[in-house]
Formats: sequence, structure tokens, C-alpha cells
Amino acid sequence: MFSNAFGATMAAETFAPIPYVNLAAQIADEAADLSDLFMRVISRGDHVGGEDIALLEQELAAQIGVTHVVALKSGTDALVLTLKALGIGPGDEVITPPNSFIASTAAIVHAGATPVFADVGTDQNIDPEAVERAISPRTRAIMPVHLTGRMCEMDALRSLAEAHGLLIIEDAAQSVGSTFHGQASGALGKAGCFSTHPLKNLNALGDGGFVSTNDDDLASRLKRLRNHGMIDRETVAEFGFVSRMDTVQAAILRYRLARLPGLIAQRRRNATAYRQVLDPRHVYVPPERPDTCDTYHTFVIQTDGRDALKAHLAAEGIGTAIHYPVPIHLQPAAAGLGYAYGDFPVTESQSRRILTLPVNQFMTGDEVQRVADAVNRFFG
Ligand SMILES: Cc1ncc(COP(=O)(O)O)c(C=O)c1O
Repeated sequence: MFSNAFGATMAAETFAPIPYVNLAAQIADEAADLSDLFMRVISRGDHVGGEDIALLEQELAAQIGVTHVVALKSGTDALVLTLKALGIGPGDEVITPPNSFIASTAAIVHAGATPVFADVGTDQNIDPEAVERAISPRTRAIMPVHLTGRMCEMDALRSLAEAHGLLIIEDAAQSVGSTFHGQASGALGKAGCFSTHPLKNLNALGDGGFVSTNDDDLASRLKRLRNHGMIDRETVAEFGFVSRMDTVQAAILRYRLARLPGLIAQRRRNATAYRQVLDPRHVYVPPERPDTCDTYHTFVIQTDGRDALKAHLAAEGIGTAIHYPVPIHLQPAAAGLGYAYGDFPVTESQSRRILTLPVNQFMTGDEVQRVADAVNRFFG
């Protein structure tokens, strides 16, 4: 079907696999800069708590529009330590969606609190009406997840939080750079918890994460919790953790933060191209809402015949993924939470229909077209 008059070379290019992620392309693109950066940073010898940490924190805080950012070891730690630092624990309930990465719920459990799930809407984000129904006298916080880099309906969630005296802790792991009505993800609640895992849009060469907040007390408690609870070399204010970001990772993140707007713009261009070509009779892509900026950590379609489509794309050399095939309330780990199949019909239905297409910034326009054409061809 793809052979043409240009011969074997052209045919080989046409069939070149399109990987779901392409971290090798990112390294190739940055290789010279990164080797300079590595030598410059590691030869200073300030491997833990070095100067890039504070600089990264300042730069991120300025970008998000908050007074503090605290760099940590992972996005999961960002969630766990934020909950702990806010005093959320045994006896408290935190409302969160059942269709996130497992870490959102795990963090609530590790803080000693109880996760309470609220179903999502057609856009895969937590449904404010479901949140309202889930509020009980024990609810302390709402943890919305800006899945795929698409912002949750924060006006409605903030009104609910205000009316019921609840905290909002944004799980912003997938939404660095996203905005809602002009405000950045991570600036819309008490705290924003981010991941800089290699698969995120702002990615380190290993695990990493950070918390954004306007709360001075929260920031200083997080700073001591990440470092054994110490306030200076002699004084341990509380028993803490080791959750410091490595200096070299902070330096890489500073370098990549400067390139983030270009990366987001390219992902948005890819997403727009998908929207123009994918056949809406067969594929649902939640529309972008006015006055929000979605950053496409992932590009997720919803469709019937998902598993067969995934196999069809794999046969054409196109990598895809499913975020997430098993809702959290149906995971063995969640058995003790008391939920059952049928409790969250939208999440459950979407888990059978969602498919994540490659959207990374190294895809060419032709590759996006090839993926979209392959999807359309599947449906005939
Ligand atoms: C929504 C969400 N929350 C939390 C996390 C946890 O982040 P990390 O992997 O950095 O611990 C992730 C990362 O995959 C995520 O996607």
C-alpha cells in the first residue's frame, strides 16, 4: 500500500516506526548542551542541595505565579509530603478521581487519610457535581488531577472548596505549563504537586518533582520534611524524609524549562493536526475549552474497538499506550477501600475506550498525518 515510484528508500522511510515516546531524540537534540552542563555542574561538587536547586525553585515559582516552589525527589513525594505537611491524615477524607495514575490515590493512603473517589466527565477530568456528592463531614481536601495536561473545571471546584472549607491540592503531575482562565496549573489551590519524571513534558533524567504554593508555612515545612526534618545542622524539628532533588537534575530542569514553551507549542500543533484529520464519527477527542491552555502531556482519544485499533496501529509500526487500563478502585491494592465495579461508570467505560496516540514534540507533520490516517483507515 505504501510502495511508490521512489523505490526502497522511500518505502523504508514511510514504514519507519513511530514510537509512542522518543526520549532518544530529545537527548540527541540536546547532547552538546547537556554534556557541557553535566561537567559544569558535577565538577562543582555540590551534588545535593546545590545552587541549581534554589535557582530552579525561583524560576518555577515565577513561571507558575506563586511565591514558593519546593523541589523534591518525585511527584509522588510532592503529593505525600504536601498532605502530611498540611496535617491531613487518619480520619480525614480526600476526594480524587479513580482514573489517575496510581500515585494520586497512593499518596492519600500513605498520608494515612482515606481516598474517596468521584467519577469524571467526558473530558476524563473529575466531575464537580460528583465531587459535591462525595463531600462528607470528614472531607478535608479535593485532589483534582489535570489529566493529559487538560485543566479541571477549577472555578466549580474552587467554589465547592470555599463553600465547604476544603483545601484544594492540585495533582499537576501532567500539567506543567497548562493554564485555566490565565492562571497556571499549580497556582489554583493550596498547593500544586508536579512530577518531572522522564515521561513528563518538563522532564529530568530520572525521578523528580516539586510543589508550588503561596503558603509560607507549607513551603518551610516541606523544606524541612524533605531533609530529615532538620531546620539546621543541629536541630531536627520533626522526623522527616530524604526527598531532595539532585542538583544535577535541577540543572537539567532549568535548561529544559527554558525550552518548555517551544515543546508545548509543538505538542499543541500536533494535537491540532490530529483534531483536523481524525474522523469524529469514530473518535471522540474532548474539545479544548475557551481560555484554557492544554499542554498535551498525552493525546488521548476515546473510541469503540480500542484494543483492535491498538493492534492495527502496532502492525503499522505506531506505538500507543493506555492511560489507564484498570481504574484505581478496581486495582487489587484498593480492595480495602470498599468500592466495586459499577461505582464509577464513566471512568469504567472510558478505561475500555481510551487510547493514547504519540504526540511528542519530535514528531513531524507527516508522522502525525500518518497516525491519524491509520486510525481513520481502521474504521474504513
Ligand atoms: C497524575 C500523576 N500523579 C502523580 C504522579 C507521580 O509522579 P512521580 O512518578 O514523579 O512520582 C504521576 C506520574 O506519573 C502522575 O501522572
